[in-house]
Amino acid sequence: MKYDFDKHIDRENTNSVKYDIREEYFGKKDVLPLWVADMDFETPEFIREAVIKRAKHPIYGYTLRGDSFYSSIIDWMRKRHDWKVEKDWISFAPGIVPAINMAVLSFTKPGEKILIQPPVYHPFFYAIKDHKREILENNLVYEKGKYTIDYKDFEEKAKEAKVFILCHPHNPVGRLWNKEELTQLLKICRRHEVMIFSDEIHSDLILGENPHIPLLSLEEEPTNIISFYAPSKTFNLAGLSTSFLIIPNKKIKIIYEELLNSLHVNMGNIFGAVALEKAYEEGEEWLEQLLDYLKSNLKFLKDFIEKNIPEIKVINPEATYLVWLDFNQLNICDEDLRKFIIEKAEIGLNDGPGFGKAGSGFQRINIALPQLILEQALKKLEKAIKTIR
Ligand SMILES: Cc1ncc(COP(=O)(O)O)c(C=O)c1O
Repeated sequence: MKYDFDKHIDRENTNSVKYDIREEYFGKKDVLPLWVADMDFETPEFIREAVIKRAKHPIYGYTLRGDSFYSSIIDWMRKRHDWKVEKDWISFAPGIVPAINMAVLSFTKPGEKILIQPPVYHPFFYAIKDHKREILENNLVYEKGKYTIDYKDFEEKAKEAKVFILCHPHNPVGRLWNKEELTQLLKICRRHEVMIFSDEIHSDLILGENPHIPLLSLEEEPTNIISFYAPSKTFNLAGLSTSFLIIPNKKIKIIYEELLNSLHVNMGNIFGAVALEKAYEEGEEWLEQLLDYLKSNLKFLKDFIEKNIPEIKVINPEATYLVWLDFNQLNICDEDLRKFIIEKAEIGLNDGPGFGKAGSGFQRINIALPQLILEQALKKLEKAIKTIR
């Protein structure tokens, strides 16, 4: 079956964060939104049908997750990541951001230090600051259009850190950390007894040749690693608040679940579980077609920018549908760049400094949308940039 990713779907007035808070966020409703990390493609029909089928049952009472919830995850990890996960390693979370916050509360105390690698997904900063923990920044190194890790600095900071939050693949710079890099990070964390939270929410969205390597798959006996996963990015299900953690170490799992249960957020919701199972049971073909479409959008973006807006540099993502754009050549300060993009180009991107100071001079664009609309957005940007050449 051929899926249609070109189809335009009107999301306005559906309480969509991406569309319906534009005025509040950008100060202007009339911006073409390419910001929030969800997709403008339909959630696949086989998932919607499963949700509708369950919705037709007339009672939406208290629910639990059956065996097929776990077996669908186990099968997916085997099929997509060649990784054998066991049922009793899997825990629930109503979202990865809530889960990271719960893990911070469970495994650190106020004043303790947590290491992150900016520019990085902004809720990592809040998960630390909001609970009065301290941020340690191991800024990624940006050289010749690529981001790498400064291990010397990482190790210095790891000496003081209680936890390291890894973003793998990395949002916003699109790096898919390879075996050498992961092994190096693991070694350092082991040496200094640093616990690792590995956020792998984007791990199904691989655009390059290299496969995703689950961090946990590299450890024989992981004592202090939690990995965070969800079908939400892959299948456009973020509004269903259903994700999961993989925690092979029993003691750690019990500690996490004590907090999850004490907050009474372990139940989740009926439709999220139905959607997760269906996605993982039947979603491979759809995902392959999605990846082809995203690759073609990425190529379109790169070609367009290279030809028409060479002032902007595209950081080639190995994974995710989020692309990090370098605007430094324009020599505009961050505040003016943000204003320029909203007011002159009338498109809504994520502002680089939102991902930490290391994001200065950059913007993040979401390319999970029909190519025709991506083209419209890029033309708006080109037109605006022409006025300041
Ligand atoms: C790295 C990363 N983690 C987590 C999330 C969001 O997770 P959730 O919606 O499950 O809280 C995102 C969404 O953009 C993300 O990029």
